[in-house]
Amino acid sequence: MDTYIVEGGEKLYGKVKVQSAKNTVLPLLAGAVLTDEQVKIRGVPTINDAENMLRILNEVGCKIKRQDGNVIIDSSGAVSHEIPQRLTKELRSSVFMLGSVLTRFCRAKISYPGGCDIGLRPIDLHLSGLKRLGVEIVEEGGYIECRADKLVGAEILLDFPSVGATENIILAAVKAEGITVIRNAAKEPEIVDLQNFLNAMGAKVRGAGGGTVVIEGVKRLHGVDYTPIGDRIEGGTFLIACAVCGGEIELCGVPAENISALLHKLRENGCKIHTKNDKIVLRSDGKLKSVDLVETMPFPGFPTDLQAQYAALCCKVKGTTIIVENLFETRYKYAGELKRMGADITVRGRTAVIRGVERLHGARVTASDLRGGASLVVAALAAEGRSEILNLSHIDRGYADFERKLKKLGAKIRRVRI
Ligand code: EPZ
Repeated sequence: MDTYIVEGGEKLYGKVKVQSAKNTVLPLLAGAVLTDEQVKIRGVPTINDAENMLRILNEVGCKIKRQDGNVIIDSSGAVSHEIPQRLTKELRSSVFMLGSVLTRFCRAKISYPGGCDIGLRPIDLHLSGLKRLGVEIVEEGGYIECRADKLVGAEILLDFPSVGATENIILAAVKAEGITVIRNAAKEPEIVDLQNFLNAMGAKVRGAGGGTVVIEGVKRLHGVDYTPIGDRIEGGTFLIACAVCGGEIELCGVPAENISALLHKLRENGCKIHTKNDKIVLRSDGKLKSVDLVETMPFPGFPTDLQAQYAALCCKVKGTTIIVENLFETRYKYAGELKRMGADITVRGRTAVIRGVERLHGARVTASDLRGGASLVVAALAAEGRSEILNLSHIDRGYADFERKLKKLGAKIRRVRI
């Protein structure tokens, strides 16, 4: 099993360029089946989630080519409307395939993705949105079978601005007959990126980033050569690591407005931050003070995907921080592992109370989910002494070259097979 060995206490200095955003690459890959022509997506990170999505495309009959970090997809041979269960279990985002496979075949079959380490993660909003577009859905024996004589545009109001549901409905509506309006849509930058990708293929999508997305169905979509946006969550992870360890880093590839809520909190913590275009420079003396309260919210609020990493920083600031996780039910599994490093963190339901301590000490800890694993790395970098971090497969789902990028910033981290 691969393990990180970290010698904590080093300040971080230098430049780091983020990967293409995991949470935009996944829906874009799903969107590749919307055309018979070649789709090229640049800079696809070598992360397990992307590899699994490519396996799914392969299974439905697409030809995949990886070339200099880019992915070229030829869907002309796509024949199957069924997403295999073993891959759905691996990757929740396979549910994005529902919308694009339905658009392609007017049929789709997927095993119920079920919950994961951070919560129940229902897909009722996805399914109710697809039903509004004329899709008949039968849920039986752990499978979801969808079929539609044809997809017809409709008005859809989401009870919650779900990222996945917004993306799935857009993918199902781009070639539907007529106009689809999604109200209370998610506003994440990844939704804007999906809109730009689809419009570059000849779709007519507008309003992404605001609360209402309007899709005018078109007859066909053509190929595209597309560069996704930078990964704001990977970038935020590096900023948090530098804030708590001390030092100065320049983050390239994330416009400040894509993580403004995090930057606001880090400034309150005492970091010096200046931004220009898609560059963010953060300087910290490592002696931070707490902010009182952090509540995770849909964009542009504080991102739930940075909650765990930020909690690691709160363990070592002066004062007490209250974190409320409003999106997922069980996104504090990392807390017990941080306590093994000397953190003073109490979790009750969706709330964590973190009292900053003078120092954290190294320990042997185990990752239980993607962002929780990243949190353990941040804490180990800020701790005194040696830490071992196990179960790296969770971290590998979303961070490519993580240890190489951290080493380049001066961190003492290495990956060993134990
Ligand atoms: C996306 O997940 C991201 N994943 C998640 O990132 C991210 O945490 C989440 O959005 C919120 O920003 C990808 O984009 C691949 P949601 P998604 O639908 O689409 C409830 C990471 O670490 N909900 O916005 O699944 C749900 O229970 C991952 O990179 C319903 O009730 O998130 C949750 O409470 C983790 N019914 C809330 O909405 C539904 O049909 C937010 O979920 C769908 C969602």
